[in-house]
Amino acid sequence: MRTNNAAITAVHGYVPDYVLTNKELESMVETNDEWIESRTGIKERRIVKDKDKATSDMCVEVVKGILQKSGTSAEEIDLIIVATVTPDMVFPDTANTVADKCGLTNAWGFDLGAACSGFLYGLTTGAQFIHSGMYKKVIVIGADQMSSIIDYTDRATCIIFGDGAGGVLLEPNSEGYGFQDAILDSDGSGRDILHMKAGGSLKPTSAETVANKEHFVYQEGRSVFKKAVKGMIGSTSELLARNNMSVDDVDWMVPHQANIRIINSVADGLNCPMDKVMLNIHKFGNTTAGTIPLCLWEYEKKLKKGQNIILTAFGGGLTWGSIYLKWAL
Ligand code: UT7
Repeated sequence: MRTNNAAITAVHGYVPDYVLTNKELESMVETNDEWIESRTGIKERRIVKDKDKATSDMCVEVVKGILQKSGTSAEEIDLIIVATVTPDMVFPDTANTVADKCGLTNAWGFDLGAACSGFLYGLTTGAQFIHSGMYKKVIVIGADQMSSIIDYTDRATCIIFGDGAGGVLLEPNSEGYGFQDAILDSDGSGRDILHMKAGGSLKPTSAETVANKEHFVYQEGRSVFKKAVKGMIGSTSELLARNNMSVDDVDWMVPHQANIRIINSVADGLNCPMDKVMLNIHKFGNTTAGTIPLCLWEYEKKLKKGQNIILTAFGGGLTWGSIYLKWAL
């Protein structure tokens, strides 16, 4: 047993106050509540309305909650990782802004992409700094202000996404609780089915890219759907087998919240009863890197020390994977 396993010792989440309902979307695009709910499971999502607010502001609320709940002072944090595809700016990293706004004077930090798999990539990365003995307190956040990159005239995407952030504090644990194992994967050949076309070095921002609406999320929904189901079932099955576990040994499954039909198919494919599956898609929609830590935050009171938890996600990149945790709180 590792003496410095990376364990989650605090979890917190934040969603903005404004509720964008299916009804309101009906007045914006050609859609209806029945279609949205039956095809995605989403009833409403939260949106940042204040024009002066950005992803870092949601992260600040998460960090404040984590510090307060764990009785940690801001100066004790060694590292902060922010998984996001909606950084405040292309550079500097949002993590730097959050560290400044929260007074994390002894921390360094960086942003990590990986879209909907961002929290899994971030958690795995953060855990390595604890396992190695290099650091004692690492904050990992998944945060996205998706409303900043959504075209609210495109019914194929605007009904799905919402804004939100969640995060955890990682600390060493000598009893074997915390991060156990991870299988992460990527396939860049699938980059064309889920991406933002312009604004990077390949296609810098121009009057033409703006006119062509190339700064919004582009998604080929059906292809992503099929790959998401296959990817999450595949990495979770492999992870369970590698740890000599069956789904009966799993207390909680935390899938990325992209579509209730994807979640149902993944649970079906793994023979996992739905009462073990954490859900928040109905009220928050797809918050990209935020969905998994927001689930952990909302279900925190139901979790018991020693429970086996599987996190799994799939997203743009393409990226996907699964993590096995033993709850430490
Ligand atoms: O989080 C990152 C990864 N992302 C995902 O995992 C998302 C994966 N994809 C999905 O969740 C689904 O593909 C969507 C929710 C995006 C779309 O659902 P779908 O069941 O795959 O619908 P579709 O795109 O195949 O469209 C079916 C029909 C089409 O009409 P026709 O061609 O059959 O006449 C669409 O035009 O539904 C129509 N449609 C809509 N109708 C009402 C598409 N969007 C809407 C809408 N309201 N908002």
